[in-house]
Amino acid sequence: MRRITVTIVAAAALAAATLGLSPSSASAHEGPALEKQSWSWQGFFGGYDPAALKRGFQVYREVCSNCHSLRLLYYRNLSDPGGPGFSVEEVKKIAAEKEVRDGPNDAGDMFTRFARPSDHFAKPFANDNAARTANNGALPPDLSLIIKARNGGPDYVYNLLMGYKEAPPKMVINPGMQYNTVFPGNQIGMPPPVSEGIVTYADGTKATQEQVAKDIVSFLNWAAEPELVARHTLGLKVLGFLFVLTILFYALKIQIWKRVH
Ligand code: HEC
Repeated sequence: MRRITVTIVAAAALAAATLGLSPSSASAHEGPALEKQSWSWQGFFGGYDPAALKRGFQVYREVCSNCHSLRLLYYRNLSDPGGPGFSVEEVKKIAAEKEVRDGPNDAGDMFTRFARPSDHFAKPFANDNAARTANNGALPPDLSLIIKARNGGPDYVYNLLMGYKEAPPKMVINPGMQYNTVFPGNQIGMPPPVSEGIVTYADGTKATQEQVAKDIVSFLNWAAEPELVARHTLGLKVLGFLFVLTILFYALKIQIWKRVH
């Protein structure tokens, strides 16, 4: 019997490891408490809401992409299964709005052309120095993995976007900086990027500040972890498999030991 117990415990441990809890979103954020949100992708059966991802992409495209790159994404990812669900034709149009540098051509020269679905997302600035110059010396980080790179994950980024408040009276805010409740040091070089009505959603959803912040965070979470849904599905399949295997082994054990007793 003990052996069976060991098998079951090992199987459960393996299953838990396979399902994997998202490490960054589970870790604590140092500093002021974050207002926790309920995200659709959390939990065993969690997944992305394509409509939210589509709205989030609209926010990135119309607002954040003016300053932030998303260099790990290709335009074609926008039509990947489990993503925002754009059609291949839509992706072609989205890509063609931007220009990218390519080359060298036959003459040995670099040239610019319209982006294609197979291209990486176009960058807003040619290089980091140009980005700093345009932003008072502050560098807007690439957003591809920002959800994974910050303690508190999606909740941190949500609270950051919602965290622009009136500074306490005694605090001196440096020129070009904004008071923010969750940014380390409470002064950030990014002007408040989300506000009510900053976008007019294509699907008619009302663009409140909370809605815009939630949608862009959902999109960025998908960008950082597009394989989440596949991972959850695989985890559940592995659990099912182990369950059946445990029953089979138990039956086998009874069969073998019957002769001894
Ligand atoms: C006008 C330019 C500009 C726009 C538009 C902008 N940002 Fe930023 N962002 C910045 C700059 C500059 C920084 C770096 C701030 C600093 O280090 O003080 C930054 C930093 C950030 C950070 C990192 C904060 C940290 O903890 O280090 C996140 C996350 C972020 N932006 C998200 C967004 C999102 C989401 C949008 C769109 C809704 C957006 N930004 C739009 C300029 C911008």
